[in-house]
Amino acid sequence: MRKNIVAGNWKMNNDLQETERLLNDLLVYDVPENVSVIVAPTFTNLVSANTMLKDSTIEVAAQNMHQADNGAFTGEISAAMLKSAGVNTVILGHSERRAYFWETNELLATKVDAALKNEMTLIYCFGEELEDRKNGNHFNIVKEQLEEGICHIAEAEWKNVILAYEPVWAIGTGETASPEQAQEMHEFIRNTILDTYNEEVAQGVSILYGGSVKPNNAQEIFGKKDVDGGLIGGAALDAENFMAIVNAF
Ligand code: 13P
Repeated sequence: MRKNIVAGNWKMNNDLQETERLLNDLLVYDVPENVSVIVAPTFTNLVSANTMLKDSTIEVAAQNMHQADNGAFTGEISAAMLKSAGVNTVILGHSERRAYFWETNELLATKVDAALKNEMTLIYCFGEELEDRKNGNHFNIVKEQLEEGICHIAEAEWKNVILAYEPVWAIGTGETASPEQAQEMHEFIRNTILDTYNEEVAQGVSILYGGSVKPNNAQEIFGKKDVDGGLIGGAALDAENFMAIVNAF
């Protein structure tokens, strides 16, 4: 059975004190056994988040990392550095990284390799822009993002991969894909994995939906057969909203 997962991507929000406050708020809640919960604070707050969550089942993820082991890459952070800080999960390829930091599928393939080489779990994000959807090109774009960014990995490595479909037009806009649109794309994603690998890989990988998931729409979206949870932005910055989403399965 695939895992249900809800991950909160805090993006560039919350200083150290705000991070600690939000974590304390989250720690008040019980985490249901059928859901893996992940939070992704900014780099400077990863260590304190890990310390505060040491007795909790909530995992900590980084929002990005560099593909090299180390070296002259001013301002960057490697997989080994994350691991030494106790962080074993990383989000890669978020649409904001693709749009504002020019991350391409080819670059992301190298980040995927670096994460896997360092035995990290990775959340590979992808999704079409509004124009792609309007042109009816959304399936092609998503297929390309999968084929070029992640479908080169070995079958055995998929156990460390979570996929996150985030249509760019639904991120931070208040506009969600309808549950039917989400299911249609998630089924397409699973079939793409099936075509490249096999039934075991395709059925085993958790595929999250991201884009304006809120307490009032999570249940309907998570209720779809191929939607295994969510990658949450805005609503993850409030413990009550986030935990309502965690409890929406
Ligand atoms: P919102 O939930 O704010 O739309 O953000 C989604 C997202 O980008 C999560 O990574």
